[in-house]
Amino acid sequence: MRYAVFSDVHSNLEALEAVLQALQGERVDQLLCAGDSVGYGADPATCLELLERSVHHMVCGNHDLAVADRMDLDWFNKPAQAAALWTRAVLPSERRRYFKELPLVWKDSQVTLVHGSLNEPEQFHYVLDAEAALKSLRIQETPVAFIGHTHLPGAYIEEGGRVTFHRFSRMEVPPSGKLLVNVGSVGQPRDGDPRAAYCIYDSQAGELSIRRLPYPIAQAQAKIRKAGLPELFADRLAHGY
Ligand SMILES: [Fe+2]
Repeated sequence: MRYAVFSDVHSNLEALEAVLQALQGERVDQLLCAGDSVGYGADPATCLELLERSVHHMVCGNHDLAVADRMDLDWFNKPAQAAALWTRAVLPSERRRYFKELPLVWKDSQVTLVHGSLNEPEQFHYVLDAEAALKSLRIQETPVAFIGHTHLPGAYIEEGGRVTFHRFSRMEVPPSGKLLVNVGSVGQPRDGDPRAAYCIYDSQAGELSIRRLPYPIAQAQAKIRKAGLPELFADRLAHGY
């Protein structure tokens, strides 16, 4: 099975279109999205329409739940609260309803998909170190799991109770042990590389890769400013943090 997995689109239509176009040139059996489709960017409705049409399985992120009124806005900082309220106002009710039905976790026999961590997925813990990764890996039943949330791509490998972190563009899946893979972010990268990120996993070949794609950043920034969303959301797209 060949999976394409991405996360954290955050209403960035220009970045999403670039990724979906690149994926047309790939042989992909399953397209998965690890949540946070909205928040920060200026195109929530069009992004959701595209995602509903193209993605096979998607889970809910914290920003999605905020927009669906399934999560307290106090969880978020002020700019993110403003983005959630703006998104609620511009998103047609049937699109907001879509979030109400999305699960927190999805899995098949080979991979698991969750936004933040399998450890209390509804709490959206950030996996930023080996200790947090191990809490999720202990619950993980499939050899590979995919997350987003931190917007920092990389893989935690657990072998014999020991967890190591690897930044990679291409890697072979170890024959034993388990992998927790952060696929980074399509629309709000925060690892210093402003290009959109997505992951390809070939379960038969045992190969994983993180791809990066340039997209028209200035266009996405102009829309954010025109919508009156916090300036920070536009600024940081250029720097990838
Ligand atoms: Fe996010």
